[in-house]
Amino acid sequence: MPLILRTDELQPGMRLGDSLMFKDRVMLPAGKVLDQWDINAVKRRFPNVRLTVGDPVLDELVEFEDDRHDRTVAQTAQTKISEAMSHVQERFNSRTDARHINFKSMSDSVSEVMDYITANPVSSALISRSLDSDSYLSEHTGNVFYLCMVLGGAVGEYVAKERIRQTSAGNLTAHKAMDLKPLGLGAMFMDLGMYPIRSIFKKEGPLSVDEKHMLYEHPNVGADMLPDSIVAAARMVVRTHHENYDGNGYPRGILGDKLHVFSRIVRICDSFDAATAEHVFRKAKSPANILWEMSLGPNRRFYDPALTKVFRGLIQPFPIGAKMKLNDGRYAVVVKYNHQDSFSPYVIVVFDTQGKRIPPEHLGKPFCLNDQPGLRFAKFGDENLSYLYQLKRDMAGRPDRVNPQSAYEASVP
Ligand SMILES: [Fe+2]
Ligand SMILES: [Fe+2]
Repeated sequence: MPLILRTDELQPGMRLGDSLMFKDRVMLPAGKVLDQWDINAVKRRFPNVRLTVGDPVLDELVEFEDDRHDRTVAQTAQTKISEAMSHVQERFNSRTDARHINFKSMSDSVSEVMDYITANPVSSALISRSLDSDSYLSEHTGNVFYLCMVLGGAVGEYVAKERIRQTSAGNLTAHKAMDLKPLGLGAMFMDLGMYPIRSIFKKEGPLSVDEKHMLYEHPNVGADMLPDSIVAAARMVVRTHHENYDGNGYPRGILGDKLHVFSRIVRICDSFDAATAEHVFRKAKSPANILWEMSLGPNRRFYDPALTKVFRGLIQPFPIGAKMKLNDGRYAVVVKYNHQDSFSPYVIVVFDTQGKRIPPEHLGKPFCLNDQPGLRFAKFGDENLSYLYQLKRDMAGRPDRVNPQSAYEASVP
C-alpha cells in the first residue's frame, strides 16, 4: 500500500500506487516504476500534486486500511453527476434557455447514482479533485451531490426526526421522511442559477454591486428555473442552500432549525467543496483546515452541529499513506482512518527526526494519535497543523476568535 509523497520527495525506482490523471486521461498509470524522466515531467507540469507510491518494506510489516472501494464509489458517482451536469453547461453555452434543459434525464441520473451508492456502501466520503479547473461548476456539483448522499445516509434517523418535526401536513411517515431523493435533486440543481453568471468565477478582483446582487440571488434564480414537476422539497433546497444555521446566510437569512434539514446538509457539503477548490478570487484551503473551521473552529456557527459532527468522521483529511510530521520532530505515516475523529487517525512512526528511515527491526506498532498523550501532528506537507489543537484552549474560557473572512467565505457559491 501507498506512501503519499510530494513531487520533490519522489525518487527513481518508486512504483506508482494510483494513476496520475489529467482531464480524464491517464498521464502515468498505476504500477509504473518511475524513472528520472517521469519525475522531471511531473515536477514541471504538476508541481503541487501529491502522488501515491508503493512501499515494499512497510507493506511487509503493516496492514494499511484499503480504501480503494470507497475511492472508486466516490469517483464513479462524481463522474456520472458531473457528466449529467455538463449537459446544462452545453445548454447555456449554446445560448438556449433553461426550458431546454432535460430535467427528466437529469432526475433519472440522480436516481441511478443514488441506487448505485445504496448498493455500494462506503465508510468514508473520499472525493477527489481533478487537476483541470475548467469545469468547476459540474465537478463541484458532482462532489456536493456525493457528499450529501453519504452524509444524508449516515444521519437517516436525524433526517426523519427533523422532517417530521418540520412538516406542517403531519402525514409524513418515517419511511418517507428518510427518502433522500429530494436531497439528491436539490444538490444536483443547487447552482443552476450560477450558470447565467458563471463568468464571475473567472473574475479577478472585487465584484461590482450588481454582480454581488446577482450572486446573492442565484439560489432564487435556480429555484425558479426548475419545472413544476420537481418535488417541492428539492426546490426548497435550491432556494435555501446558502442559508446559514446562525441566520446570516442568503437570500433570506433563515435561522437554524427553521431551515429544512436537507438544506443544512447541502450547506455543509457545498461549503466544504467550494473552499477546497482553487478559485481565481480565493486560494484553496486544505481539507483539514476547512473541516476544522466548520466543525470545531470559528465558522462552526454557520452549520448544524449535529451534522458537522458526523461529517467530521466521514471526511478523511489525512489519507492512508500520508506522511505526517509529529510535534517531536519524527514523521509518521497514516495506516488507518479513525471514524470517530478523523483528525486523529492511526499512524506508524517511520522516519526519525532527521527524516531518515527507521530500520524495520526498530519500527514500533501503529497507534491511534489520541492514545498518545502529548503527541500531536505538527505538519502535513507545508501546512502547520497547530490550529487543530487550539480548541481546547478556546474551550477554557476564551471567546471564539471570529475570522473576519468567515462570513465572506461562507457566501462563496
Ligand atoms: Fe455551491
Ligand atoms: Fe450556490
